[in-house]
Amino acid sequence: MWGGRFAAGPSAIMREINASIGFDKRFWREDIQASLAHVTMLSAQEIITAGDAAAIREGLLRIAAEYEQDGVPEDLALEDIHMHVEHRLAELIGPVAGRLHTARSRNDQVATDFRLWVRNAIDEVDRALAGLQGALVDRADQHAADVMPGFTHLQIAQPVTLGHHLMAYHEMLRRDRSRFADARARLNESPLGSAALAGTGFPIDRDATAKVLGFDRPTANSLDAVSDRDFALDYLMAATQCALHLSRLAEEFIIWASQMFGFVELPDEYSTGSSIMPQKRNPDAAELVRGHAGRIVGATTALSVTMKGLPLAYSKDMQDDKPPVFEAHDLLGLSIAAMTGMVETSRFNVARMRAAAEAGHATATDFADWLVRVAGIPFREAHHITGQAVRLADKRNAALSELPLEALQAIDARIDARVLDVLSVDASVSARNSYGGTAPERVREQAAKAKAALQAEE
Ligand code: ARG
Repeated sequence: MWGGRFAAGPSAIMREINASIGFDKRFWREDIQASLAHVTMLSAQEIITAGDAAAIREGLLRIAAEYEQDGVPEDLALEDIHMHVEHRLAELIGPVAGRLHTARSRNDQVATDFRLWVRNAIDEVDRALAGLQGALVDRADQHAADVMPGFTHLQIAQPVTLGHHLMAYHEMLRRDRSRFADARARLNESPLGSAALAGTGFPIDRDATAKVLGFDRPTANSLDAVSDRDFALDYLMAATQCALHLSRLAEEFIIWASQMFGFVELPDEYSTGSSIMPQKRNPDAAELVRGHAGRIVGATTALSVTMKGLPLAYSKDMQDDKPPVFEAHDLLGLSIAAMTGMVETSRFNVARMRAAAEAGHATATDFADWLVRVAGIPFREAHHITGQAVRLADKRNAALSELPLEALQAIDARIDARVLDVLSVDASVSARNSYGGTAPERVREQAAKAKAALQAEE
């Protein structure tokens, strides 16, 4: 394509290091889509004849059909997807193919293709995340009143409901989706027509190509348009945050599935056995979601470092923008799908969760709050009295609610029978009915609200 200036061809190593067809063939559809928009505009602007444009369009559609059927052939000598398409076009329609590249460069072409691809990727992730949110909301609604221990420092803190715990992840994913939506809104400008770096002298119509390609407007600075990849990094950063959330959820499933917790039984479909220990049932899918988050962080780091310090405008380093984005996208898609399956089909052992909450003195705060509210004792003193009650319960190997009233009154005479009402885990969660709190009624409200919001999107 650029052989005119050279006497000798590239060495085998040069070809190999230069070629991106191995990965950029992944956006052949976007490449052809952008070329169709470009050629239509060229003829509307009378930069090429309608006849030539028709021949080029027809050729591009034939190539699309070929690729759809047989995949993209890889020829390292043809470097990248752009050259593959152009080369095949010339084979199909002859020298008129050369007119397609009027008033554009591979620099604005690749920037356009990649934006289109990332935009589709965002839409795909968004749909998948909505599915996972739906699964969380369903399970949360089902377990809105099932009590489990809530933890801080992974120590039993206060009783919460399983529904509340699951809805916490729904909220994280809601914010993740808004981060992807922000990234989408920002990337939705068309670089096409920025040409190599400075724009073009041909009377092109950038608004027209932007519109056909679904962009909100053309980019305002040609140097910026061909040389920034912040849209890809926006995607990766949103993907990173999302992967961190998925990794935390995966980690909970891993802990909960351990024999010591026994809070959840992962379905056979998302577990593996051991080749040597017949009793094993391993949460491999959850562990890989946790592991994949590390690789997604790595992809974000890779592109960040690639872009750091590049002078304007295009440099070939930027060809390396694609593998990290593709890798992160694939890993994220798999992670979302695996977590959705686990959330949908896991069996929660609610009896065991309740027993753990009861055994862990999780209602100690309720006890202290009662001393403040009903007995009029200052909180610091109430905290101390409660601590003594917990110590006594531990000594007797009993739950706080199992201590006889006389034993409590021996600690502090201001305690009366009414305290027994607040020591059960059910009373505790029902009492926490502030907005955003764990009370079953609040969880059901939040689940209903979330369900309605998800349905409204459909
Ligand atoms: N394959 C290249 C890339 O992905 C296309 C742009 C090439 N531009 C150039 N000036 N060599 O970045």
